[in-house]
Amino acid sequence: MASYNAMSPNPLPIILDCDPGHDDAMAIVVAARHTNVIGITSVSGNAPLESTTRNAIIMRDLLGLDCPVHSGAERPLIREPRHAVNVHGKSGMDGANLPAPSGPPASTDAVGYIIETCRAQEGIWLVPIGPMTNIALALRSAPDLAGRIAGISIMGGGRFGNSTAAAEFNLWCDPEAADVVFRYGGPLIMSGLDLTHQFQATPERIAMVHALPGTLAPILAELFEFFSGTYRSRHHNIVGAPVHDPCAVMALTHPHLFTRRRAHVQIETHGTITAGMTLFDDRDLKDIPEPNCDVLTGIDADAAWLVLLEAIAHFSH
Ligand code: RIB
Ligand code: CA
Repeated sequence: MASYNAMSPNPLPIILDCDPGHDDAMAIVVAARHTNVIGITSVSGNAPLESTTRNAIIMRDLLGLDCPVHSGAERPLIREPRHAVNVHGKSGMDGANLPAPSGPPASTDAVGYIIETCRAQEGIWLVPIGPMTNIALALRSAPDLAGRIAGISIMGGGRFGNSTAAAEFNLWCDPEAADVVFRYGGPLIMSGLDLTHQFQATPERIAMVHALPGTLAPILAELFEFFSGTYRSRHHNIVGAPVHDPCAVMALTHPHLFTRRRAHVQIETHGTITAGMTLFDDRDLKDIPEPNCDVLTGIDADAAWLVLLEAIAHFSH
């Protein structure tokens, strides 16, 4: 198996904030292979916090990652918690026979962990791939983090929604948190749905995972089968689950696989039918606000899949 940019000599330090979540699990695999995962923090999202924390610990264990998992917000900043059982199942990662977690989270204070870690070590990337509640709470409690972190790479938003016509799930769950992130002022990379839907776990690609040796690959292949199954059952024109969350990691580790543009993006927090929407200011005017983020617009999906496949192969033995 060609190793695609296998572990760089100086892997970027990241804290991965997630709500596993089938695609979060795959993001953990890519991050473990290509970044220095300082820590993993969990948040309520695809499933309740207890489940997303359990799933994050299981994935950390399966990969033999030497990093802590800290659990965080069990609900959004002000809204009621919402979950995605119709996509990820009741456990948040239905479809495979997963081992029990090796133990509890290192703490239930993900926000304190993020603040303490980013104050102790400058240059960490925050990679939120679920509702951004933990990140928003950390930025609000410790505004100095904005000047200490390397940046924030998110999965979320887009020119269309999935939870509503306007809003993507992560931002729909907690628009207020997303608003804090999009206003924080530092480097921000956005992998939205118009990007991630270009990167689908098609049957042919999942067959490549099934064909890998070892014990991890079959487990992840089963997760992909379930994830793609729920997507295909609900969509007219999707052949495989969009592999959303690894995009936010590969945006940092494999930037050459993406096209991007600068844009000013605002988050709708008051709309009765548009809450959580990412509004792009593309007006042809000289006095529009300065861009606040890099919006990823395209992906070399075949090459990105080989990056994911190689990472799975690396840990499947
Ligand atoms: O809308 C897709 C996003 O919501 C992904 O991060 C998925 O894991 C869910 O969290
Ligand atoms: Ca997620």
